[in-house]
Amino acid sequence: MITNKRQVTSKDLKPDMILAEPIYDIDGKTLFSEGLRLNVKRIERIRNLDKNTVFIEEISYEPIKEKSMVHEHASIFEKNAAKRKSIILNETRTEASHVVSEMLDTVLDGNSIKAEKIKKIVERMIGAILLDERVVLNLSNLSAIDDYLLSHSVNVCVLSLVAGVYLGLTQAKLMKLGSGALIHDIGKMLVPQEVYNKPDKLSDEEFKIVQQHTIYGHKILRDTLKFDSETANIALFHHERMDGLGYPHKLTKHDIPIFAKIVAVADVFDALTSKRIYCDKVDYYHGVLYLIEHADTQFDIEIVKKFITMIGYYPIGLYVKLNTGDIGQVMSKNMLCPVVRIVKDSNGQTLQNYYEIDLYKNPGISIIDLNIEEFKNRRASK
Ligand SMILES: [Fe+2]
Repeated sequence: MITNKRQVTSKDLKPDMILAEPIYDIDGKTLFSEGLRLNVKRIERIRNLDKNTVFIEEISYEPIKEKSMVHEHASIFEKNAAKRKSIILNETRTEASHVVSEMLDTVLDGNSIKAEKIKKIVERMIGAILLDERVVLNLSNLSAIDDYLLSHSVNVCVLSLVAGVYLGLTQAKLMKLGSGALIHDIGKMLVPQEVYNKPDKLSDEEFKIVQQHTIYGHKILRDTLKFDSETANIALFHHERMDGLGYPHKLTKHDIPIFAKIVAVADVFDALTSKRIYCDKVDYYHGVLYLIEHADTQFDIEIVKKFITMIGYYPIGLYVKLNTGDIGQVMSKNMLCPVVRIVKDSNGQTLQNYYEIDLYKNPGISIIDLNIEEFKNRRASK
């Protein structure tokens, strides 16, 4: 790490820059000392002094050795996951557990499932999510529920709903998305248990039987529960993939409905990060890397971007755009609010000397877009 001094105009000052020289007020008294970290208020006072330029510290780094950092940061991500749980409101937790217990009574109750009951539960979930979007961070790890299909259904529903909120869907659309997501795998009830629960690799014939759950599910949603086609199609199309290698109809890109695309991402992410009979779970960090690696081939890239922003796991080295217009690279640590190294300013000019912003200390600054294409290419070329 090398520390230098750089002169910047006061209008280019940004939070988290560090003063390299003291700043004096009009009476010659020290207003801010050397070494002080700037924030929005301090910048405002400096600008009010009519001071044209200021010296700030410039810290340059060696390029990131991303590969060697992956495992170290995977464990940091997991540690921070525990911290994130503590910021969820108790009321939200209680609400979520009620929703889960109602799910136990309804979905497992076979023929007595009523569309109205599903809608009522989804409506409550939407209410809880709109009160506190961070509910997903708590619910996405509902390992306390033994039944995988049940906990997976609830998780996929919540993940899909929060993604829907991030995508700006209306309440009416969220109702359809949530209802379909909650029972997207209901057709599995009609798949022979010995095939569905088989711990070993499925034969081609068995895999074809499992694939039928999309057709069965669609029939239950459309004919038994009388859901509209947008909702019922979630059960039918949630295994379709962008490259046409999904099932049951091998649809591609624009032919796959958006609700099915959202549920596909939530479904795979939760399946990867939950414990299942036939394979061990991966941590969230590697779950995110999987989504990135399969963005565009399997999943809609724009939905993957929203999904990653929503769950707040930003891989080290990922280029992001901030709401200030600056472009930076994720450096580490805090999942929701990582440290970002700014490499380009809001005019797209590459900075000769990097500086860093800790988003945790600057709550007004946030990530608004991700350049996962570039991250994916870099990983592929290694
Ligand atoms: Fe499925």
